[in-house]
Amino acid sequence: MDQIEGVFNGSFELVENIKVSPLSRAYTFSDSIYEVVPFFNSKAIAFDMHIKRLLRSSNELSIALDIEQASKEITQLISSCSSENGYVYYQVTRGQDIIRTHMYSKLMDIETFGYVLPFSFKTKTLKVMICEDIRWGRCDIKSTSLLGNVMQMNSAQTQDCDEVIMHKENILTEAGASNLFFVKNGTVCTPGLSNNILPGITRALLIKEIKKINIPLIEGNFDLTDLSNASSAWLTSSTKGLAPITDIVNLENTLDTQDPIYLKCKEAFDYKFFS
Ligand code: PDD
Repeated sequence: MDQIEGVFNGSFELVENIKVSPLSRAYTFSDSIYEVVPFFNSKAIAFDMHIKRLLRSSNELSIALDIEQASKEITQLISSCSSENGYVYYQVTRGQDIIRTHMYSKLMDIETFGYVLPFSFKTKTLKVMICEDIRWGRCDIKSTSLLGNVMQMNSAQTQDCDEVIMHKENILTEAGASNLFFVKNGTVCTPGLSNNILPGITRALLIKEIKKINIPLIEGNFDLTDLSNASSAWLTSSTKGLAPITDIVNLENTLDTQDPIYLKCKEAFDYKFFS
């Protein structure tokens, strides 16, 4: 891979030159939050919404982030990218301990780290696996503590899958790194916001577009039987956009990637953000 442009504690440098302390709480406790900000034609998609969520995540963990500074760094990373299309990863860590200790000092300086990567937003079809949602109770915070996601997604990889769809006691939550949508009886369904799912920016943007084109939509509690009866299903994220699911390997299903309702949603979204 080409050299990656980054920023660490406000200094811009190549990622390979950045040095991090092993006592950073990002290492010892995953005591950090992050954002992924996509850009297309050199312009961030829903920049304000990403910044607002970054601030919310840091507030939830009482990390005193300078949001103006973070916004400037993200904007500068986008400008420095060799490609017009890509994304910025931006992480905020509580800071470094003198020695590992669960309870942190209030005097700690936060650590920020970001990088930018070129990325082409091509639609990719997905094969997915259903699995139990084994994650903690605050998945609405965009924290780097992602072991539950990592374990389930890597187990899915052994089944040749690209993603997982998770459920808590049969109630669908979200995917490993994206939100879930499906069509049942002509209505678009998506799990409602709660502490168990990330309030995805792509999810929010898509819901707005779906409402504009008057397709019925329900945000609520759905179970595996609902998904089994779906005519189409797709996942959303800042890097995937809308990615249609071709197959769920461990659930009876009849998913059609040419389902007219899915195609209308996809067309409306791509027209608004990728044209
Ligand atoms: N993932 N749910 C989870 C668990 C996610 O990790 C993500 C995004 C989403 C979708 O959120 P958004 O539409 O705001 O990107 C939902 C990012 C892209 C990642 O971790 O790389």
